[in-house]
Amino acid sequence: MAGAGGYGSRMARVFSGIQPTGDKHIGNYLGAIRHWVDGQDEHECIYCIVDLHSITVPVDPAQLRQATLSLATLLFAAGIDPEKSILFVQGHVPQHMELAWYLNCTATMGELRRMTQFKDKSGGQESVSVGLFDYPVLQAADVLLYNAGRVPVGEDQRQHLELMRDIAIRFNGRYGDTFVVPEASIPPVGARIVDLQEPTKKMSTTGGTEQGTLALLEDPKRLQKKIMSAVTDSDGEIRYDVEAKPGVSGLLSLQSAVEGITIPELEARYQGKGYGDFKQDVAASVIELLAPLQARHAELAADPAEVERLLRRGAERALEIAVPQVEAVRERIGFLPAV
Ligand code: TYM
Repeated sequence: MAGAGGYGSRMARVFSGIQPTGDKHIGNYLGAIRHWVDGQDEHECIYCIVDLHSITVPVDPAQLRQATLSLATLLFAAGIDPEKSILFVQGHVPQHMELAWYLNCTATMGELRRMTQFKDKSGGQESVSVGLFDYPVLQAADVLLYNAGRVPVGEDQRQHLELMRDIAIRFNGRYGDTFVVPEASIPPVGARIVDLQEPTKKMSTTGGTEQGTLALLEDPKRLQKKIMSAVTDSDGEIRYDVEAKPGVSGLLSLQSAVEGITIPELEARYQGKGYGDFKQDVAASVIELLAPLQARHAELAADPAEVERLLRRGAERALEIAVPQVEAVRERIGFLPAV
């Protein structure tokens, strides 16, 4: 858990982002989106659909357009309130790219090479895009552009957040205090939901299995089927032990995050019970959690023009912060003003 300014702290400006790639899943919801929604009453929140990040690997243009609009619909359906928060599309605010360049000249090759996400995604290949390598610098620009102090993310983003802090501190040291140094806000429960078929891996639409991933808009019958066929083990005991029982432990973590009950309480509840009963309960609570989101999504999806209007409004509000911030950065660096 982050220290001051971390999970649960008040007043800091909040920023977070999500990629418009693949079907968004219950890991995204429990690790991030749910906390974005909860943060709205206490903080000034800015949430971003990071379309620029998603082209670090090849994507089909029509699919990207569709996925961006569909993710916005999903986020509004999940409870992001355009009256309280700013939700916008990253590419609508070009200052993200401009600031990324300035930060590129602050970050080092060595620190980017250490990023485990890059190592995983590149698989050691040199033929990947420069953008994939540079991905964390654009991510740093996203947050520093708004001087956000708090970044609610899942566990897989921890290293990117540490790099972002290092970049901010280095820039501030070189040019004088410019950026708020952000803190990761990683929830104590639900920050790493695992794949139901390969429970040593995180749930992911790009790196995980289809059968082991619970998409947020998935039909309840399919959700039920996937949970009932989750990998477990043969000793029959419902006990949390990630090393010896990764499958059962993954299901316990999932249910704990969904129901807001601790794992020891769940272990006590299921003492002497079988995996079948346990899985039935997990499925019922997942389906119940997602039902309102799915219903709201169906309503909003009927009016894409309204979603686009909300996104335009979001971008206008984001620009009000981003434009003067980039001007301040340019001045600090010493660029001759254009006028
Ligand atoms: P993305 O789109 O992969 O995921 C969005 C959020 O979901 C969390 N998450 C998970 N949480 C729990 N269990 C899982 N299995 C799981 N999988 C994903 C992620 O941690 C994330 O919080 N690089 C980011 C997007 C980004 C960003 C930013 C985030 C771009 N700029 C600035 C914060 C601040 C990403 O690819 O998230």
